Amino acid sequence: MAFQPKQITHYEASHLAELQGDVSETAIKYSLGLIPPFSDGDAIHDNACGSGAVTTCIMESLAPGTNIHIDATDINPQFVEGCAALAKSHNWPVSTAVMSAQQITFPADHFTHSITSFAFHCLGDHDTAAKNIYRTLKPGGIAIASIWVYMPHVEALQHAHWRTRGKDGPMPALLPLEGFQEADLRKSLETGGFIDITCSEKDCFLKIGDMKRWAQLAWSYLGALPSGWSQNDEDKWDEAIADIVEQLKSGDGISKNDKGETVLRMVCIMAVAKK
Ligand SMILES: C[S@@+](CC[C@H](N)C(=O)[O-])C[C@H]1O[C@@H](n2cnc3c(N)ncnc32)[C@H](O)[C@@H]1O
Repeated sequence: MAFQPKQITHYEASHLAELQGDVSETAIKYSLGLIPPFSDGDAIHDNACGSGAVTTCIMESLAPGTNIHIDATDINPQFVEGCAALAKSHNWPVSTAVMSAQQITFPADHFTHSITSFAFHCLGDHDTAAKNIYRTLKPGGIAIASIWVYMPHVEALQHAHWRTRGKDGPMPALLPLEGFQEADLRKSLETGGFIDITCSEKDCFLKIGDMKRWAQLAWSYLGALPSGWSQNDEDKWDEAIADIVEQLKSGDGISKNDKGETVLRMVCIMAVAKK
């Protein structure tokens, strides 16, 4: 097995949910408000489902008695397992599968909706992902794809990367210097086959009570280099976490609320695209 620093958090769906707080759900609820309500017979793909934030928002917003089905898929088996357990615990009409967004195995013209929430910027070949979304949607079907275009913690984590690994090496794959922006999302969806695309922007606020705990979760998930973790990362783990905590004390988009929590302003772009 590849080297892992002894301090790393071994990710499960619950860790991703803790890292995201309720910020994704706030954004997802907003994006669901941009499309007509779900109705009987809808077949929905929660693509790159993570810990199941989209599935949860859909199920919580559904008018009682509405008969839908959700397929929740992700490349990470731990996340899929967590999502399956969540759906089972609520008795939701959800099937889960480990699946790459580049190799969606559902047939063409299958879904009424395909939702890819906060994943386009980090899933690798996004054009192939967009083609798969387009292919698996029914004609007239709706895709939602959302991305974060501004997150103050990215700079804090990049700072910790440079501090503990020097300035010269490659960046962690999930902390690229060139962010994925609205134009990139639009271009990718167009490459996928979509013509009718509308983008909206929304500010969301992530509240963090225990910053050290949050930094630990963030570095464990986002800090890995393309080549993986090294002994140096283990040796400098505490320095990286302390640096992230320090960087997130103040700066652009960072404030404190009356509960003493740190509040990070995050900006998202939501694209609604029709096939
Ligand atoms: C930031 S999380 C978002 C999760 C969830 N959609 C949400 O909004 O909370 C990004 C997700 O993309 C998944 N992912 C990354 N690359 C992927 C790929 N190639 N195919 C499918 N899922 C992928 C990750 O495992 C992770 O669950």
